[in-house]
Formats: sequence, structure tokens, C-alpha cells
Amino acid sequence: MSRMNRESMLVVDNVTKRFGGLRALNKVNVEVKRGEILGLIGPNGSGKTTLFNVIMGFYHPEEGRVLLQGEDITDLKPHQIARRGVGRTFQIVRPFGDMTVLENILVSGLFSVPRGGEHRKIEDRCHEILKITNLTERINDPADELSIAEKRRLEIARALALDPQLLLLDETMAGLTHAEVDQALQMISGIRKEFGLTMIVVEHVMRAIMSISDRIVVLSEGRKIAEGTPKEVSENEQVLTAYLGHRKGS
Ligand SMILES: Nc1ncnc2c1ncn2[C@@H]1O[C@H](COP(=O)(O)OP(=O)(O)OP(=O)(O)O)[C@@H](O)[C@H]1O
Ligand SMILES: [Mg+2]
Repeated sequence: MSRMNRESMLVVDNVTKRFGGLRALNKVNVEVKRGEILGLIGPNGSGKTTLFNVIMGFYHPEEGRVLLQGEDITDLKPHQIARRGVGRTFQIVRPFGDMTVLENILVSGLFSVPRGGEHRKIEDRCHEILKITNLTERINDPADELSIAEKRRLEIARALALDPQLLLLDETMAGLTHAEVDQALQMISGIRKEFGLTMIVVEHVMRAIMSISDRIVVLSEGRKIAEGTPKEVSENEQVLTAYLGHRKGS
């Protein structure tokens, strides 16, 4: 167990989250290795965002635990988990519309606490973040004036400003054009390389998730139904059935 944890950034151990009679997550086990990009897929309502909310401490699971680098964070509050280096984007983008791009990122960065004696200036980091999210030219524009693709990049920029080591991306490519998806994929690879981040990526754009993920976990109706390389998962019959909605029983 301790050996596994040393290599793990995150372990979701047998987590169940209920909403009334609904099991949004049903005994889910997920491990994310340091430096890995884990794809998390599944049909609508399968529990992907709920899993993010459990990891971030927004929801407390009825069963199971969440370990961050071997430390049990299940009972911590969202701000404590954020401070330990877990960042996320929201499925519905919500920047401060009348603030500029730079202000949005700075405000987010204000809440970050330098970790491990690393006291990089917020402004320096801001500059790096603007560059990697390709928002440098938009630095002084109000967030309201950004395109959808730019707003999604700003959402990622704000998450990066908190200096996370684990980043949870929730459908940051929804509504993007083919070319914009390609740019987003490049950006995510760049973020992993430059910042050495571990990521869990939720995405409905299959082409994107298949090309960016080292490994993929598939949820369906709150259960993990498959796990493996993009190739393995795309050839998995249970996965195909879940997506086509012909699942027999449960
Ligand atoms: N706060 C809540 N209260 C009650 N039910 C909820 C709540 N949040 C989520 N659910 C339910 O839990 C299930 C899982 O929802 P979740 O948002 O995690 O799915 P998802 O996989 O993110 O779906 P999508 O792909 O549509 O974003 C759904 O049936 C949803 O209606
Ligand atoms: Mg969701």
C-alpha cells in the first residue's frame, strides 16, 4: 500500500456518493500516477463531475477515501484541498466578466500559497500562464469579450494561477471547433511539460481524449466499467454498449 502511494498522485479508494436514492458514484476506484494524464469518460450523468467534486471536497462520500500523495484528504474542506495543490476548472465557465484577463488570473493567484519553499512571484507566474494559454494578446480585454475558446483557456489559466500539482479539467473543449480542439490539445501537452502537472481530463470529444490520455477510466451509471489504454478502452465492448445505450441490466 505505501509503495503504491509513493508513486500515486491520487488514489480514489472505493468511493460511493449518493444523492437520495441515486448512487452517483458506486464503489469507484481510481489511481492517478504522478505526471500522468488520466482521461475520465462516460455518458451524461455517469458521475464524472461528481467524482471531481468528491476529490475537491465539495461532496463528502458516504463510503471510501481519497488520498493525495498518500495523505487522506477525504475530510478536508475544498480550500484546504486546493492549498494542497489540487486545482480544477468548472464545466460551466464563470470568469468575472467585467474584469480583464490579467485581473481574472491575478485574483485567482492571490489565493495561492507557495508550496515547498517555492516563492515565485505571482506576476512572473502570470506571465508564463498567459503565454502557455495563448492569452497574452488579450491581457487587458474584459473577460466578457473573449470567444468561447478563449474563455475556456482563461478558465484553465485561472486554475493554473493557484499553482496546482494535480489539475482536474472538466470538459474544457466543449463547443470548440476542430482547429480549436487541436490547439487545446497542444496547450494541455504544453502545460504538462512546462509545469510538470498531473491531470485528470473529462471530455466528450473522443478524438481529443484518445490522443491526450495515457490511460482512460470509463464510468457508467456511477460505476467504473473499464480502464486501460485509449486503444484498450475504445475496443472494450462494455464501453461501446454503455455509449450506445444498449446496456443490459446493471
Ligand atoms: N447536487 C446534486 N444533487 C442531486 N443529484 C445530483 C447532484 N449532482 C449530480 N447529481 C446526479 O448525479 C448523477 C451524476 O452526475 P454528474 O454531474 O456527476 O454526471 P457527469 O458524468 O458529469 O455528466 P455530464 O457528462 O452530463 O456532465 C446524475 O444523475 C446527476 O443528476
Ligand atoms: Mg459533468
